[in-house]
Amino acid sequence: MAKVAFIGLGVMGFPMAGHLKVKGGHDVTVYNRTAAKSAAWAEKFGGKSAPTPAEAAKDADFVFTCVGNDDDLRSVTSGEDGVLQTMKPGAILIDNTTASAEVARELDVAAKAKGCAFIDAPVSGGQAGAENGVLTVMCGGEQADYDKAKPVIDAFARMVGLMGPAGSGQLTKMINQICIAGVVQGLAEGIHFGKRAGLDIEKVVDVISKGAAGSWQMENRHKTMNEGKYDFGFAIDWMRKDLGIVLAEARSNGAKLPLTALVDQFYGDVQAMGGNRWDTSSLLARLEK
Ligand SMILES: NC(=O)c1ccc[n+]([C@@H]2O[C@H](COP(=O)([O-])OP(=O)(O)OC[C@H]3O[C@@H](n4cnc5c(N)ncnc54)[C@H](OP(=O)(O)O)[C@@H]3O)[C@@H](O)[C@H]2O)c1
Repeated sequence: MAKVAFIGLGVMGFPMAGHLKVKGGHDVTVYNRTAAKSAAWAEKFGGKSAPTPAEAAKDADFVFTCVGNDDDLRSVTSGEDGVLQTMKPGAILIDNTTASAEVARELDVAAKAKGCAFIDAPVSGGQAGAENGVLTVMCGGEQADYDKAKPVIDAFARMVGLMGPAGSGQLTKMINQICIAGVVQGLAEGIHFGKRAGLDIEKVVDVISKGAAGSWQMENRHKTMNEGKYDFGFAIDWMRKDLGIVLAEARSNGAKLPLTALVDQFYGDVQAMGGNRWDTSSLLARLEK
């Protein structure tokens, strides 16, 4: 059992912190900006809550963060009441936010300056993956720190991997988002075409999903896409945040991402249709407008 702090009880953080308490059996203290959520979490899982990130992180062996973006992350870590104000030497800061590789490297330096360690550990698997404790976690950091952190992360994960030094977890998550963007647009075009051709989409997917065109998106999203239901899952606003990070990184490392840049603009069109909170599979709605 370890002493664990968890900062950010959103759609993802709330159940992840719950798994650390219940499945991991750790001594968990949470912080959330909106205090009602930390109270609800403490009530549901029987853990403790603190009034600031710094208070939550005091004495913790592992400090998890899962907030929105780079600025939110800087605020709960390096800010006035941030966790780095109180983390003890030897403690490990593990960030599950989808953020830039730049902020990961920045926090790695800041944590080391305090005698602590840092691992960037963005996740994939969505709300269902967080609730069921089966997330994929892509880590960046040093092997010795990862070896200590992995058994703790395991409480909410099915797959955990160390991809390289600090920032490598975020870079891997960027690849994840690049691959998703292209696949979803292809699937949207396929379903759109099939409808125009007068085919039964269920029958089509039943057959082609067993062949080379099959994908997680096809298996899990074709039915709702065909029914025009987009009101669930990973929101477009988050995807655009992620693709913004991807495209900025590509500008700096010279990668050519023409399809990703195009799909990012398509998501902009969906936002203009009022789809900010729609699922990423709503690229089809744009074609059918
Ligand atoms: N949702 C998904 O399917 C999914 C999948 C993979 C990765 N992710 C990534 O995981 C991260 C969290 O996603 P989520 O869906 O859990 O988001 P969310 O439900 O919007 O929760 C965001 C959390 O961050 C807190 N927060 C935001 N800004 C803050 C600040 N400046 N100071 C303190 N706390 C702050 C929020 O506090 P309040 O409660 O006070 O607003 C909330 O607890 C994001 O980076 C997202 O891209 C999400």
